[in-house]
Amino acid sequence: MNIDVHFSALGIPEEGLKGKVVVVIDVLRACSTITTALANGARAVVPVGDMDEASRMADALDPETTVLGGERGGKQIDGYDAGNSPTEYGPEVVAGKTVVLTTSNGTVAFARSRDAAAAVAGCFLNAGRVVDFLRASLAGADPEGPARGVIVCSGWLGDVGLEDVLCAGLFLDRLWGGRPPANVSDGAHIALSQYQRDHSRLARAIAGCNHARRLQRLGHGEDVVYCSRVDGLPVLPVLRDSRLELEGADKKAAARRIKA
Ligand code: MLT
Repeated sequence: MNIDVHFSALGIPEEGLKGKVVVVIDVLRACSTITTALANGARAVVPVGDMDEASRMADALDPETTVLGGERGGKQIDGYDAGNSPTEYGPEVVAGKTVVLTTSNGTVAFARSRDAAAAVAGCFLNAGRVVDFLRASLAGADPEGPARGVIVCSGWLGDVGLEDVLCAGLFLDRLWGGRPPANVSDGAHIALSQYQRDHSRLARAIAGCNHARRLQRLGHGEDVVYCSRVDGLPVLPVLRDSRLELEGADKKAAARRIKA
């Protein structure tokens, strides 16, 4: 099955994802943070592209059960409860709460996925779950037809982010077992080739990416290491009615993890 890969959240036209099966990737750090918050018992994460809208939304919710988080330029936004570091979203902070999250790129990609047939958050932490989701959602798709699946690499302010491209390449490598379809899209070809080039030194390749170095300069080097763990948190955040949530067994497992 063919899959399209976009290299920037900001480059996607509103109608571009309509009816598609979408995986939004933002390794550093929105999707890793969303995955972590939900695995730690957050009821939902509401991704919001615009800062003012995020503040308004949080103001309208019960402060006892809401966490307002986000970053601009990688730094926590003034007056917010938390930034965008996954380590800030532990069970003691998020269990049973709704997280309203606004980030520079990742949450914008979710806003553009509103009309998708299905959309999930993907990162290295939940790679296996994302690949299973793609396999199940795209089973039976016409191999010669237009791609039904789309991977959105969020990137950084309209530029490509190598860490997201590597993650897309890992998903495709697992999905296709190293044998891409004959009509592979250029975006998928680039992502797969880059992953196959760097997979034996993945953590080092991620640590050398532009945004990883930006985060290291801001004192968030540990986030880069954390977000590089492949299959470290096997849960699947699913977008429904503009909220990301876990479903079924994932939800029960998160509840058990918090109790333990
Ligand atoms: C984004 O949306 O661009 C990011 O998640 C930025 C970050 O906090 O590292």
